Amino acid sequence: MNKIAKFIKKKNKSKIISLTAYSKNIASIIDKHCDLILVGDSLGSVLYNFTSTKKVTLDMMIEHSKSVRMGISKSLMIVDMPHNTYKNPKEALKNAKKIISQTKCDGVKLEGGKKKYKIIENLIKNKIPVMGHLGLLPQSAKNFRYKGKEKVERKEILRDAKLLEKAGVFSIVLECVESSLSKDITRSVKIPTIGIGASVHCDGQVLVTDDLIGLNKISARFVKKYANIEKHINDAVLKFKKEVIKTQFPQKKHSY
Ligand code: KIV
Repeated sequence: MNKIAKFIKKKNKSKIISLTAYSKNIASIIDKHCDLILVGDSLGSVLYNFTSTKKVTLDMMIEHSKSVRMGISKSLMIVDMPHNTYKNPKEALKNAKKIISQTKCDGVKLEGGKKKYKIIENLIKNKIPVMGHLGLLPQSAKNFRYKGKEKVERKEILRDAKLLEKAGVFSIVLECVESSLSKDITRSVKIPTIGIGASVHCDGQVLVTDDLIGLNKISARFVKKYANIEKHINDAVLKFKKEVIKTQFPQKKHSY
């Protein structure tokens, strides 16, 4: 059974663990705990201070993904297709092939439902594994409100999930989706749903690693900070600084 089929089989068996990585060092730490590592275009705001993910380029995604690839030995590695790189089926296929051939990732993720159906269907027909992304879509969002409050919106998102499944995606990220809608979607599709701000009802959860470890200053409702890495870095650097000033570092054993 290939890696993607194994991933799908986890639905209804055990929760799926997913996190983001933008570099080898983080990827190699989280790999043993994850089922899927996402090179997310969130790197635009997390690393480059962009106000949206729209400015992230294909080259940026490819360079970060090459680094991440070196840190992964077991998890599925999925790379976000950035904004404006999948406007039509031909362009999407060309860019997805470029991402896969240059980064050796296992598949790509792209945002959208009905409007992206033909694009996604064409990628899958050409043997590119695709992860869908519904709910809040940062590449096109006008605001960052959660999705699924109004009846019409709920119907659209549920319809889109079923359409994505029909097109052949192997999983769907649900971002900032109201809890009971996430539950309905998760029950209505046979592929795993991975939530971020989309409740416990999803088949798995994804978070931006930098948020989880306290390296990125963000105060979104869906983020839980499990560690304070900023404090650890600060303490270590302060210690280094003091020792240098007092000529306690470097010692003989650090010198030639
Ligand atoms: O870009 C990203 O990191 C993502 C996750 C938040 C799902 O799409």
